[in-house]
Amino acid sequence: MSVHNPDIKRITTHVIQALKNKGEKISALTAYDYSMARLVDAAGVELILVGDSASNVMAGYETTLPITLDQMIYHATSVVRAVKRALVVVDLPFGSYQGNSSEALRSAIRIMKESGAHAVKLEGGLEVKESIMRVLSAGVPVMGHLGLTPQSIYKFGTYAVRAKEEVEARKLIDDAKMLEEIGCFGIVLEKIPAALTKQVSESLTIPTIGIGAGPHADGQILVLHDLLGITKEFKPRFLRRYADLHTVITDAIGHYVDDIKDREFPSPEEAY
Ligand code: KIV
Repeated sequence: MSVHNPDIKRITTHVIQALKNKGEKISALTAYDYSMARLVDAAGVELILVGDSASNVMAGYETTLPITLDQMIYHATSVVRAVKRALVVVDLPFGSYQGNSSEALRSAIRIMKESGAHAVKLEGGLEVKESIMRVLSAGVPVMGHLGLTPQSIYKFGTYAVRAKEEVEARKLIDDAKMLEEIGCFGIVLEKIPAALTKQVSESLTIPTIGIGAGPHADGQILVLHDLLGITKEFKPRFLRRYADLHTVITDAIGHYVDDIKDREFPSPEEAY
């Protein structure tokens, strides 16, 4: 187990900022359910994201678009019940904030009130500025998300690296500055060139959390099921697998099936 700074009893957005201020990298990971969130929290991860990637890894959809606000609240509630230390951030799902700022505020308030989470995240820059400002004005901490924003996959047409061209990189830098100015406590940078992450991270006072964005972000995030090797087919270059749970789990269950067929389970000791 690796809990850095066991003295910090509860991670707040202020603690996340303090980590950047003192140059300590921030660890972040997704979680979607009670059992996994307990493990992630106990292992010392500072920021747990109830990501809309739940749409892919929990529900089996191809994109993050189908997951609903009610489903995100269900996942977030389970995670919050498990977490004692980490900051819990919840994604506002597609369609719950883009319409107008009142809708964004209503969605954010439902997440905070019904799940007990500590902050929300939403994708985009200038296009969603009004929505972010409205949510912030209600006292809800907001995390931005720039670069590859999976809710816009049908606009991009591909999950390839974003902001390689000057114009898009310039917009990302402007969006990041704007997000900091209006009061976001951090920004996820997804799948952008490492040099751009460095430039953005060094020019902001708030922390950046990277995924596929190189080593210069102030912190790193991965999807839990990818890190654990539960998802086998997804193999982007940025992903480091720390376990092969696909093999561990299928072997264990295969063994169980064999034991039943061979009348090895249950044994007399396992019966009443
Ligand atoms: O939904 C998610 O898991 C995310 C991370 C990839 C940052 O937004």
